Amino acid sequence: MVKANLPEGTRVPCHVGVIMDGNGRWAKKRGLPRKFGHREGAKTFREITRHAKRLGISYITYYAFSTENWKRPQDEVDAIMELFEKYLDEVRDFIEENIRVRFIGDRSKLSESLQRKMASVEEDSKNFDSMTLVLAINYGGRDEIAHSCRVLAGKVRRGELEPDDIDTELIERNLYTEEIPPVDLVIRPSGEQRLSNFMIWQAAYAEFYYTNILWPDFKGSDLEAAVLDYSERNRRFGGI
Ligand code: FPP
Repeated sequence: MVKANLPEGTRVPCHVGVIMDGNGRWAKKRGLPRKFGHREGAKTFREITRHAKRLGISYITYYAFSTENWKRPQDEVDAIMELFEKYLDEVRDFIEENIRVRFIGDRSKLSESLQRKMASVEEDSKNFDSMTLVLAINYGGRDEIAHSCRVLAGKVRRGELEPDDIDTELIERNLYTEEIPPVDLVIRPSGEQRLSNFMIWQAAYAEFYYTNILWPDFKGSDLEAAVLDYSERNRRFGGI
């Protein structure tokens, strides 16, 4: 199958992680408040998700809000939360496209209405299988590993698990990404070359793709360039 504009034989990553960076700078360049950058970034999110499906990507995870993003000015946090509410209503369109929607992160600090919407979108899309869209909201990789450890420690306390039986597989099974495969390719626009606590466990063997394009300007053709670049890499997973 020829995948959109990709040449025959392109190896498409199964799971792509995206760090949506550069929204603030995009707005600043235009003399606009930062929240306008997030609004444009949300449009890009919608376009890129649809394009990812056309390319045959099975899982796409977006870093939408980190556990550290609460430190931003309150009006910016509020604007981002409002965008989530709005887009969760729109995400229902994805359901019609047979896309499963999941969320990772600590939901307990999010508003009740957002939590309710998240749960209902997940429930309504749970049997869809054309692609899985994962949104990381109030997500931090270290926080996620601590969460898994707490679950396992509870089992030890109740006598359901021996400490010696804790291995990497068990830790992995209790991450927020249960049943989501490891990340193959992490894309970070805007010129930064950091992982910033994004899926630090799942990206252990991921390939990285950086570009100077700011997230609101990121296009389907940029996603294709990242996939082509990935396709040419030689992944060894610690072997030779
Ligand atoms: C990083 O850019 C972006 C964020 C912290 C927020 C991302 C949120 C959205 C795109 C809003 C909506 C998302 C969905 C899924 C509906 P930055 O603000 O750090 O940019 P900068 O580095 O240029 O300041």
